[in-house]
Amino acid sequence: MKRIAVLTSGGDAPGMNAAIRAATRTAVDRGAEVLGVRRGYAGLIEGDFIPLTARDVSGILEFGGTILESDRCLEFKTPEGRERAKAQLNRADVQGLIVVGGDGSQTGALALSSEGFAVNGVASTIDNDLPGSDVTIGVDTAINVALEAIDRLRTTASSHRRLFIVEVMGRNCGYLALAAGLAGGAEVIVSPEHDLSPGRVVELLHEARLRGKRHAVVVVAEGARTNGRTLYQHLRDVHAVDFDPRLTILGHIQRGARPGAFDRLLATRLAARAAEMLVSRQAGYLIGLRNGAATATPLVDVIGQPKPLPAEFLALAETMQL
Ligand code: ADP
Ligand code: F6P
Repeated sequence: MKRIAVLTSGGDAPGMNAAIRAATRTAVDRGAEVLGVRRGYAGLIEGDFIPLTARDVSGILEFGGTILESDRCLEFKTPEGRERAKAQLNRADVQGLIVVGGDGSQTGALALSSEGFAVNGVASTIDNDLPGSDVTIGVDTAINVALEAIDRLRTTASSHRRLFIVEVMGRNCGYLALAAGLAGGAEVIVSPEHDLSPGRVVELLHEARLRGKRHAVVVVAEGARTNGRTLYQHLRDVHAVDFDPRLTILGHIQRGARPGAFDRLLATRLAARAAEMLVSRQAGYLIGLRNGAATATPLVDVIGQPKPLPAEFLALAETMQL
């Protein structure tokens, strides 16, 4: 291929800039020109393209967010929207596209690919809800942000014999909650996959109290039915536990961090592979990390598949709560 384009889509994730840099430099190295698409699929539909040279992607590796900006675009879900996008790509003489994003973005990539345009996806979202990648770009950094908050909250919780509820992001996936909760030693973890009623959380906290715990941290995924506000309200209303409860919702703070080494390396490996394959006309794949290796899986085998939480993490979390 002589010219490819790259876009970032959905929620931004730390490491997206590293992915843009790696895709650009790899494609240039293999003799292709690169265009950056601003604002994800919205910019694709509007033809909002900028040239990217190896120098244009200097000095971005260490920053969170995405220099290309990101967006959510309803129109791209329609065949008409995708026709407009393809017309813009053809007008700019672009033969292939790299989509850096999460589950929704890769669903869009599959739609475009099924309609005959050459696309490779790069697994990138803090939610880690994308089958085809054991971990996605941005998850590790987001976990570390949540972990730092949990550590700080535990410190103050222990001084006041309090209970802190910490709500983390993840949309419908509990990975971020499970991983941050396990790493942060949470007394209880609530996720959409393993939802606990407020009453059950109270029981677990009561048992923890009887085992001698004088403070507690409960990590709750935003997508759980028992989310942070629901649980906090319950604890306040029924005065159900001996601990004095407080609620912290971490929100977008988890998305804005500088990417750590793991995410920079992961982004570099995955995006380089995506570009290398695309330039040599191997398209229709999601590039993710599987068993430690940058692995290409057909998009069609990935989209719509379930991604269960790691059983090992779940079992460990239960034991470590003792
Ligand atoms: P993420 O990629 O982080 O999961 P979203 O779910 O918001 O984020 O998806 C990002 C964008 O991907 C959407 O705004 C839309 O433009 C595109 N997209 C999502 N689902 C589809 C779909 N079924 N068909 C085509 N495009 C889609
Ligand atoms: O997909 C990433 C994510 O941060 C989710 O964890 C969260 O539910 C959602 O995006 C928030 O979306 P927005 O940035 O549009 O508020």
